[in-house]
Amino acid sequence: MRVVGIMLCVFIGIASVGFGGGELKKLPASGKEYDAVTGREIYSNTCIRCHGIDGKGTRGLHLVPLPADLTSPSIQSRLDGSLFKRIHDGKPNTAMGAWRTALSDDEIWDVLAYVRTFRQE
Ligand code: HEC
Repeated sequence: MRVVGIMLCVFIGIASVGFGGGELKKLPASGKEYDAVTGREIYSNTCIRCHGIDGKGTRGLHLVPLPADLTSPSIQSRLDGSLFKRIHDGKPNTAMGAWRTALSDDEIWDVLAYVRTFRQE
């Protein structure tokens, strides 16, 4: 099983190099690749208590408005830059704070890469 996993990684690695610049690579303006695995760690530490493990928002919070459903088309259809800015600067008059002092720009891009994994097919 492990070997299969490694082979798969190698294959995906080759495939993403092979299709460089194509659909597989969605790079922010800086051209750096962002890492949803690191992003998941950041999400678990900083976002999960409001947005929930599945991104749909923690139930039972008494917040108005409730945390956004990060899986929803209304969020997922937004451009990377727009969501980056939201996470960076926060959303006025909501519990969504600005993360620019707690997280570096790279960390915000990583967490956004993880938020993108909530996109529904
Ligand atoms: C204290 C609770 C809380 C935490 C922690 C939190 N959020 Fe939010 N988040 C909210 C609320 C509340 C909203 C606003 C929902 C609305 O406007 O309807 C929101 C909105 C958002 C939106 C949509 C913004 C928009 O423009 O509508 C995104 C994307 C988001 N959060 C991502 C994150 C990420 C990534 C983290 C972790 C770095 C995080 N949030 C941490 C409560 C939180």
